[in-house]
Amino acid sequence: MNILVTGGAGYIGSHACVALLEAGHDVVIADNLSNSRRETIDKIREITKKDIIFYEIDVKDTNKVEQLFNNHNFDGIIHFAGFKAVGESVNKPLEYYYNNIVSTIVLSKACIKYKVNKFIFSSSATVYGDNEVPFVETMDLMPATNPYGQTKAMSEKILMDAAKAHPDFSVSILRYFNPVGAHESGLIGEFPKGIPNNLMPYITQVAKGKLNKLQVFGNDYPTIDGTGVRDYIHVMDLAEGHLVALEKLRPGVHVYNLGTGQGTSVLQLLNTFMEVNDIDIAYEIVARRPGDIPISYADVSKAKKELAWTAKRGLKEMVRDAWNFEKNL
Ligand code: NAD
Ligand code: UD1
Repeated sequence: MNILVTGGAGYIGSHACVALLEAGHDVVIADNLSNSRRETIDKIREITKKDIIFYEIDVKDTNKVEQLFNNHNFDGIIHFAGFKAVGESVNKPLEYYYNNIVSTIVLSKACIKYKVNKFIFSSSATVYGDNEVPFVETMDLMPATNPYGQTKAMSEKILMDAAKAHPDFSVSILRYFNPVGAHESGLIGEFPKGIPNNLMPYITQVAKGKLNKLQVFGNDYPTIDGTGVRDYIHVMDLAEGHLVALEKLRPGVHVYNLGTGQGTSVLQLLNTFMEVNDIDIAYEIVARRPGDIPISYADVSKAKKELAWTAKRGLKEMVRDAWNFEKNL
């Protein structure tokens, strides 16, 4: 298939491009590089030894998107492009609503116009809010407490309504849990802007000596050791989840959790990182981070049953590959 990947220069998109190219698909990337680097495109070529076409465009720009759809016959699109920082979204709500919602509308309109009937969308476990774990796709969603989460819930709804009105337009909504790690080559990975908000890049930057110590946000949650529990998933497993979602997409709208189904606490992740990589990480316990939920992990049975997909890589590979990428930067 010939696939348009928006946000393909970004963290998850770049890994998905590798998975697509290695499976024999052709890839066209559209990215405005607002949160990524041009070199990543060359790294994808280096890993896969395949060519990719790259357009540096903003996917909110209807004219540019129309030109793109005129130039290529796409079989499907994976839409990763968007802003993703929860804290920043509280301070810049209009930028977040504008970028994340308008891009989804412009791209789905183009797909319907040009009869590109496969649309894969990057959603987030954040739409479940503080539901009972494990989170199941059939649960009622909870309104997000931040604009970023709202944009994901709204984009899901927009795509569902579009698919209802256009029965040929098939949509797969993928709710990611906590993507971590990097391609095993160490050539591509995550480049957070400024001080990382997320746990794994924070740990790797302390390991590298860029940051002094990790702050563990709370040890009084009702969890195994009091620290927050999350479902960490290796970014290459996540990338492969996109490949099967695309290849097995049936008519209609389908929602899948992409996680491992395993919960891991902050201290468990930290200890695994220190053990596997043989590095000491300084840390201190501090107050809970406002807005955090105690526990999040996925029920992964739907993706297993319908897509025959499960995550293959464990915590050890996640911490090894995350460090392998950071240390070579
Ligand atoms: P990322 O910031 O690394 O990648 C997003 C890419 O989209 C960047 O390369 C950026 O330059 C590009 N982009 C943003 N707006 C654009 C626009 N208007 N036009 C063209 N390009 C644009 O983020 P990521 O971690 O790879 O996330 C990819 C998607 O997955 C996002 O939609 C994000 O919300 C979603 N998601 C991420 C996580 C996570 O933990 N990383 C979790 C759940 C969902
Ligand atoms: C964050 C986002 C969420 C997004 C998810 C996946 C917030 C509030 N939520 O969630 O919308 O879908 O990433 O990318 O940002 N922790 C520390 N110290 C740190 C950083 C984190 O103890 O310096 C803890 C957190 O309290 C949490 C766990 O580590 O228990 C994971 O945190 P993080 O990586 O930020 O992911 P989420 O909180 O799941």
